[in-house]
Amino acid sequence: MRKPFIGGNWKMNTDSKDAVELAKGVAQKCASLLDKVDVSVCPPFVYLAAVKNAIGSAKVGLGAQDVYFEAKGAFTGEISCTMLKDIGCKDVIIGHSERRHVIGETNELINKKLIVAVEAGLLPIFCIGELLEERNAGKTEKVVKEQIQKGMAGITVEKAKAITIAYEPVWAIGTGVNAAPQQAQDVHLMIRQFIASMYNEDFAAQIRIQYGGSAKPDNAAVLMSQPDVDGLLVGGASLKADDFAAMIKAAAEAKK
Ligand code: PGA
Repeated sequence: MRKPFIGGNWKMNTDSKDAVELAKGVAQKCASLLDKVDVSVCPPFVYLAAVKNAIGSAKVGLGAQDVYFEAKGAFTGEISCTMLKDIGCKDVIIGHSERRHVIGETNELINKKLIVAVEAGLLPIFCIGELLEERNAGKTEKVVKEQIQKGMAGITVEKAKAITIAYEPVWAIGTGVNAAPQQAQDVHLMIRQFIASMYNEDFAAQIRIQYGGSAKPDNAAVLMSQPDVDGLLVGGASLKADDFAAMIKAAAEAKK
């Protein structure tokens, strides 16, 4: 029903040589799984073109890790949707927790980025998730709903079909402590129900919700076996082609 979707968020890692090798490795090792699982890699901006070239004709998607909402002009250091499309990007991560909490992006800024990305025909991976103190204070639902409501404000159901949501509890990202599969499932179900209330049941049943936060080869199968977990957004473990391919395989098996 919902095709699994595994994304590799390389963050600020690799150099030009590693990026090309990693992309080639991913394309090769998961070639036989790409009809069952959608796969995208998101290298740093400066390696997008080289990675696109390394992927060649393989059906591995190319994604950017961020985008700016203005079309062009005096915005030093920023990259537009047109530029991403020009270079062959299909996907774009928007609202990653490191952009929210390290760089200081707000729900309002993320909303602007999502709006222009869907208008441009890019496929956003829209990241949401609570901090540890928010979870401990019982605020997960409130935080996540607010991120969705503000982030997707003004986006019609037709445009929202381009979006994948990535639920990434901030306390699980890069910590080695993944959310327990049931914890992930509970939040994913809550997100799906919220999407149904914001849009409609049909769309809620269609939208893919990835889990992210210390997803690894040894927990990919159990995470992916949760009914509302449709994919993974993988940081650290996406930097090794073997590990990333093992997770893609686990996703294909789990959703057979
Ligand atoms: P991680 O990162 O897999 O290294 O925890 C996930 C992410 O930030 O998307």
